[in-house]
Amino acid sequence: MTAPTDLTAGAPSGRRQILVTSALPYANGQIHIGHLVEYIQTDIWVRALRMHGHEVYYVGADDTHGTPVMLRAEAEGITPKQLIERVWTEHKRDFDAFGISFDNYYSTDSEENRVLSENVYLALKDAGLIEARDIEQAYDPVKEMFLPDRFIKGECPKCHSKDQYGDSCEVCGSTYAPTDLINPYSVVSGATPVRKTSTHYFFRLSDPRCENFLRGWVSGLAQPEATNKMREWLGSEGESTLADWDISRDAPYFGFEIPGAPGKYFYVWLDAPVGYYASFRNLCEQRGLDFDAWTKKGATTEQYHFIGKDILYFHTLFWPAMLEFSGHRTPTNVFAHGFLTVDGAKMSKSRGTFITAKSVIDTGLNPEWLRYYFAAKLNSTMEDLDLSLADFQSRVNSDLVGKYVNIASRAAGFLLKRFDGRVQDSAMHHALLGTLRAAIPQIAAHYEAREYGRALRQTMELADQVNAYVDTAKPWEQAKDPANAVALHETCSVSLEAFRLLSLALKPVLPTLVANVESFLGIAPLTWIDANVPLSSARPVNAYKHLTTRVEQKQIDALLAANQESLKPADGAAAAAGPAGAAKAAKSSDGNAEAAPVADGAGGMISIDDFAKIDLRVALIVDCRIVEGSDKLLQLTLDVGEGKTRNVFSGIRSAYQPEQLVGKLTVMVANLAPRKMKFGLSEGMVLAASATDEKAEPGLYVLEPHTGAKPGMRVR
Ligand code: 2FM
Ligand code: ZN
Repeated sequence: MTAPTDLTAGAPSGRRQILVTSALPYANGQIHIGHLVEYIQTDIWVRALRMHGHEVYYVGADDTHGTPVMLRAEAEGITPKQLIERVWTEHKRDFDAFGISFDNYYSTDSEENRVLSENVYLALKDAGLIEARDIEQAYDPVKEMFLPDRFIKGECPKCHSKDQYGDSCEVCGSTYAPTDLINPYSVVSGATPVRKTSTHYFFRLSDPRCENFLRGWVSGLAQPEATNKMREWLGSEGESTLADWDISRDAPYFGFEIPGAPGKYFYVWLDAPVGYYASFRNLCEQRGLDFDAWTKKGATTEQYHFIGKDILYFHTLFWPAMLEFSGHRTPTNVFAHGFLTVDGAKMSKSRGTFITAKSVIDTGLNPEWLRYYFAAKLNSTMEDLDLSLADFQSRVNSDLVGKYVNIASRAAGFLLKRFDGRVQDSAMHHALLGTLRAAIPQIAAHYEAREYGRALRQTMELADQVNAYVDTAKPWEQAKDPANAVALHETCSVSLEAFRLLSLALKPVLPTLVANVESFLGIAPLTWIDANVPLSSARPVNAYKHLTTRVEQKQIDALLAANQESLKPADGAAAAAGPAGAAKAAKSSDGNAEAAPVADGAGGMISIDDFAKIDLRVALIVDCRIVEGSDKLLQLTLDVGEGKTRNVFSGIRSAYQPEQLVGKLTVMVANLAPRKMKFGLSEGMVLAASATDEKAEPGLYVLEPHTGAKPGMRVR
């Protein structure tokens, strides 16, 4: 790894050449706010570096291969290629809406990627780092395919919870081998897996050459947490604990066939990072750049990968080793970030906090508000970050509207009305502006160090100083007496120049808003050196149009409602990934390469997995009342063992008097999305039996468990 400073030393102009990537999202789900943390983080960095005039390329692609994409396409009755084409369009739409400024957004299912992946593999093979080995694996005899661990479920060998994944139990947290599961079944077909042997190809990471290389490479990592993790994986000197990496999968598999090995495919994680280079190669072709000069061993360019901390292993062990031993340069650095929670908890479909990028846009929330909020929370560590919806609303309103935009709206009116839109040139030397100008290089450095929270705190402190200046000068008072015209002109001019400087500081985070500021001020796109190029009376400002609005509570409510899912088959990432995928999606990258079972759906049957999505609970009917204005409903207050009660409206009035039900136990669907009804919010559904033909055979019977059941018990 080469430090960036060494590289710039060799470039007299100081113009660096930098290739940047974000992790490639899987092509079987939607972009959600967990993903957006990473793309926004990378995009801010890229924009801040471009503002120095460096040659920066930011590339991305969809991660298209693997079992989940294959099965999802099959479940939808389309080909994998059709699926990935559709998802690519959706992803691109979302990235564009959030201002993610990719120079190229491509696909790992491309010819460039096939060629590059084959070349990397063949080079590793020539270096003696590929080994064929027979291994025994779980096999689905009905579906005729090998089953990744996450596609096998069964009873946990420790706590005996049912329907746990083949690698770990979500109830007791223990990890084990799929062979340890009691009564295992394939989530694809429901069949009992059998053991079957097949030849696999391994990348020999345990080879001393890999160990030696990685021990050296690790010392250049920017994040101490990453270095520590890697040292843990590497074990002590000379006794490397690195295991060889299984890079092949058997047919049927959606991916690239391995050269010279018919029926064997590259594991998705082999060709995914190569996809960074495939996207860049495609960009090089478009722009006439020298791909080899950027990517071959000895390149003097810089290369950075932004990722979630869950995929550190792939980016700090496999990827650098793959590059090193296939004649390529290695990454300059890898920057990992933490996971996103919403209001302190994992993103959840039932709470409506599994928020898709599209829903943010559809609800009319300005994507730049989210960019601002995430930036305010981001730093250079791998700490998790929380999106608190109340804090989001108040911070955007107080910082962006109250502190920042307010400065322009206060100054613009007077300047346009009284001074022909022209600033007072002598005001550009005001001491306050000197303070702001001196802060700009510091703020730019905070961005480069990925300390965005610090950059924004400093910017808002400066905004406070500007507002204090305006409050003291009181332009609204100055405007009352024509004798104060010069003073008023100075106040507005200083304010507006301060606003220009604050806009410069915010530009990496708020590119669209600042582009509007640039056209309002009639200036060229701002770069860091423009800190010292003040507004001039020679160029009057243009008419002021409002730059942003406040976040309204009703928008937040609409966002949660838009993301609240009932039990209908969903089309989102988590739906494809099943319950485990939903839980994991709280991270930036779902990590669901092999974690995405899909329902079979054949003949109107549902899989056991589908059934497991319904959270049925024993509920105590604490209270029951007639609903004024409805002859069908009863209002139930239910205790489901949550420490609080739930309100449920149920259409059972024709069959019961309220007093017949109070104190009785019943069964409710506890994870049904809350529904707004005319009479209030209904937070679930109680189960009742009735004849198929209710007209011919009237009667409604609320379910009641046998004696001994307790509120909150799971029904399955
Ligand atoms: O974890 C994920 O979401 C993967 N699709 C990331 C791949 S990053 C790169 F290696 F391609
Ligand atoms: Zn368990």
